Amino acid sequence: MSTDGGGAGDLADGWARVCDAGQLAERGDGVRFEIAARGGPIPAFVLRIDGQPLAWLNQCAHVPVELDWTPGRFLDDTGTVIVCATHGAVYDASDGVCVGGPCRGKSLQAVPCRERDGEIEVQATVVKSER
Ligand code: FES
Repeated sequence: MSTDGGGAGDLADGWARVCDAGQLAERGDGVRFEIAARGGPIPAFVLRIDGQPLAWLNQCAHVPVELDWTPGRFLDDTGTVIVCATHGAVYDASDGVCVGGPCRGKSLQAVPCRERDGEIEVQATVVKSER
């Protein structure tokens, strides 16, 4: 299901809604969304790790392609690492640092994220959310 998350009403204090908090399961599938940037929308995603929502741009640090194996599937079976579907770079899911693969030592680009009033919000202009 798609919902539009854009609009000035979402940005009264610089934060915009991505999805309902209940849609993010602990170490489950992520919610994909897009944020506005110069040059056009950039894909991003949010996961719940150790109870906290964590958001990053959906761009591998090796080559800026999307990371997920199937839409929203970022984590491996252990739920501890994000694995790039293209060449297998492995990122620590708690901090986005690449711990294995061709971009070891680099990091995913974080998007400021919070949970408030039952919603997941990011400090960016959300132009599209997939939930
Ligand atoms: S594009 Fe992600 S590891 Fe190469």
